[in-house]
Amino acid sequence: MSNTKNILMLPGDGIGPEVMNEVKKVIDWSNDKRDTGFKVEEDLVGGACYDAHKVAVTDETMEKAHAADAVLLGAVGGPQYDNDPDMPRNQRPEAGLLRLRKELDLFANLRPALVFDALIDSSSLKPELIRGLDIMIVRELTAGVYFGEPRGEELRDGVRYGLDTQVYNEHEIDRVARVAFELAKKRDNKVTSVEKANVMESGIFWRKIVKEVHDADYSDVELSNMYADNCAMQLVRWPGQFDVIVTDNLFGDLLSDCAAMLTGSLGMLPSASLGTKDPETGKIPSMYEPVHGSAPDIAGQGKANPLATLLSHSMMLRYSFDMIEDADMLDQAVQNVLARGLRTGDIMSDGMTEVSTSGMGDALIEELEKLN
Ligand code: IPM
Ligand code: MG
Repeated sequence: MSNTKNILMLPGDGIGPEVMNEVKKVIDWSNDKRDTGFKVEEDLVGGACYDAHKVAVTDETMEKAHAADAVLLGAVGGPQYDNDPDMPRNQRPEAGLLRLRKELDLFANLRPALVFDALIDSSSLKPELIRGLDIMIVRELTAGVYFGEPRGEELRDGVRYGLDTQVYNEHEIDRVARVAFELAKKRDNKVTSVEKANVMESGIFWRKIVKEVHDADYSDVELSNMYADNCAMQLVRWPGQFDVIVTDNLFGDLLSDCAAMLTGSLGMLPSASLGTKDPETGKIPSMYEPVHGSAPDIAGQGKANPLATLLSHSMMLRYSFDMIEDADMLDQAVQNVLARGLRTGDIMSDGMTEVSTSGMGDALIEELEKLN
């Protein structure tokens, strides 16, 4: 019997619970057929948690998240919360996600933008620009303008100001740069560091620290710098020039949405958020989530694409548990269901067969059966 691996599952809001259901099927299958030893505990986050407890995530859930070997999250947010005048700002659904990221110190957010051959026509870019595309965006996730102080509203000489602060210290940049360089070494050995050093002091500083890390420990990796606006433009002009992109929290938020769309469907893209490995236990604090949001417009209708969440589960197998064979098998099963012509609505095209969320999950299990 393999060691037990404790997973905290936080389906959240909107389509979160539906897509997470398909992950549960895969986990049950793998426990049964591959003796993977996953133990799953489920809990609330985001609006679902607010409805039950009037907070976006409870202290008990945070404790469970710290104790778990990995966290799997669906999605948070919905219009009913955006428009609720009584909801305190610091308990809005997104705050639950940000608290998990911050308190687990998940500073490195890995967002791969991978084009699946079978879906090449779903992209708004020409096929020749995106065929075989494989970009890894490494977004800093626990600092920068998302958390910088001071923030809020204040009065200065009778004039109201709204403010956020972009701030990074050297350690925050250093550690995320290292993650990017390490990943590049296993890929095409190229890192593009993105900031706005032409206008932002913190951008000049970002560039300086990335270069220091590079020159000290990664001079064999090719490093270039790019302004964030240019990067957005280059992503749609010639995405193939990129291998690993490392950038701050806010630019990473924007650029990863842009890169996601290159691939044709947000419904296909997974992400991993990783902290620092504990030298004694070897555990890496980690949370895995699809890049797509809660999609309230299609929630509860069985239309959601579960593949991004299933691929997030595969990233968990890879990065948290070093279960490379199982991860490869799951990735292959995803390729196979697409090759069979099965599509959820978001990636549907002529001549393909439209399936529901659970239809997709069931087909995936069939493919896993064949591969096992
Ligand atoms: C993301 C999302 C979040 C972010 C929101 C939901 C807070 O857009 O994960 O990219 O801005 O980080
Ligand atoms: Mg975003």
